[in-house]
Amino acid sequence: MSNPSSSYNGPERVFSGIQPTGALHLGNYLGALTKFVALQHTHECIFCVVDLHAITMAQDPDKLRANTREAAATFIAAGLDPKKAIIFVQSAVPAHTELTWIFNCTARMGWLERMTQFKDKAGKDKERASVGLFDYPVLQAADILAYKATHVPVGEDQKQHLELSRDIAERFNRQYDAPGFFPLPEPLIKGPGARVMSLKDGTKKMSKSDPSDLSRINLDDDADTIARKIKKARTDPEPLPSDTGGLAGRDGAANLVGIYAALAQTSDQAVLDEFGGQGFGVFKPALAELAVSTLAPVSEKLRTLKADPAQIDRILHDGAARAQAIADPIIKEVRKTVGFWGAD
Ligand code: AMP
Ligand code: TRP
Repeated sequence: MSNPSSSYNGPERVFSGIQPTGALHLGNYLGALTKFVALQHTHECIFCVVDLHAITMAQDPDKLRANTREAAATFIAAGLDPKKAIIFVQSAVPAHTELTWIFNCTARMGWLERMTQFKDKAGKDKERASVGLFDYPVLQAADILAYKATHVPVGEDQKQHLELSRDIAERFNRQYDAPGFFPLPEPLIKGPGARVMSLKDGTKKMSKSDPSDLSRINLDDDADTIARKIKKARTDPEPLPSDTGGLAGRDGAANLVGIYAALAQTSDQAVLDEFGGQGFGVFKPALAELAVSTLAPVSEKLRTLKADPAQIDRILHDGAARAQAIADPIIKEVRKTVGFWGAD
C-alpha cells in the first residue's frame, strides 16, 4: 500500500469511522467491518464511532448514547481486537472539532456544494438542512488527518468524501507552504461488498435510514429473521445467468449474487459457475444458509457484549486515551503551522 501521490513520508496508518445511527447492517459489515478486521493484522488501525457526524441529522440523546455503545460492541463482535486496533468515540477526542474549524478555512464552498451525499440527505429543502450536514465532509477530513492516516477502508459511497479529504490535505500543505505535512489519504474501496444494495430495491444502497426493515439484514438479526428477509428479497422470475453479463438490468439478482460472493469471499462469476441456470427457489435458501452461518457468531457475540456495557465503556475510555495520544502532537504541529499564539 504505497502512497506515491504525496511527498509525505510518515508511517502508514489506517483510520475509518461508522455512524451510531442504528443497528449496523450487512452493507456496513461487507463494505467496512470485514476490511477493518483484516487490516488490524497488518497495520496500525484506528476505528471511530462518529457521533459528531450522527448529530448532523436529528438524534434522540438516549438513543444516540445506546447506539454509540452498540456500534462499538458491533466492531468487536465482527472481530476487531481492542488490544490491536484503537476503538473509540469521536466526541471523546477534541482534536476532531478543532481541526474541523481549521479545515473549514481551507475547504472551499464550491467543493462542498458538489457533494452528492449532502444533496441526497438535505433533500429538496436544503435551506433547512443543518450547517453541520453541509460541513460533514470537512469533519470527516479532520477525523482522518488528525491522525495523519494514510489509508481509509470504506464502502463505495464514501469515494467522493475521500477525494475531498485529499483536496483539503493538499490545499493545506500548499497554503501553509508545508509540503508533505499531511498525507493524501488513500481510500481502500475495492472488493465484493463495496456496494450492498437494498433487498427491496436493487437500485438503492442498503442503509440504516431506510424505513423498511426488510430492506436490510441487521447484524443483530436472528437466523429466522435473516432467512425470512432473504426469502422476501425482490428478484425476478428468471433463473440465474451463467455469466456476469447476464446480470445487467437485473438489479435484485445482481445484488444477491454480489452478497453471496462477498460472504463466500469469492467472485460473482464463481457464484454463477455454481448456480447459473438455477432459480431463486434454490439460490435464496443457499444464500440464507451462508448468511446465517457467517453472521450468527457475530450476532451471538454482540448479544454477550451488550449485556456488559461497563466492559464496552472501559474499551472506549482506553481507546480515547490512545487516540488522543496520537492526535495531540499532530494538533500541536498544526497550531504552530497555522500561526496560533502560544504554539511556537
Ligand atoms: P455509515 O453507516 O453510513 O456510517 O457507513 C459506515 C461504513 O459502511 C462506510 O465505510 C460506508 O461506506 C459503509 N457502507 C454503508 N452502507 C453500505 C452499503 N450499502 N454497502 C457497502 N458499504 C456500505
Ligand atoms: N462518512 C462516513 C459514512 O457515513 C463515516 C465517517 C466519518 C468516516 N468519518 C470518517 C469514514 C473517516 C472514514 C473515515 O460512511
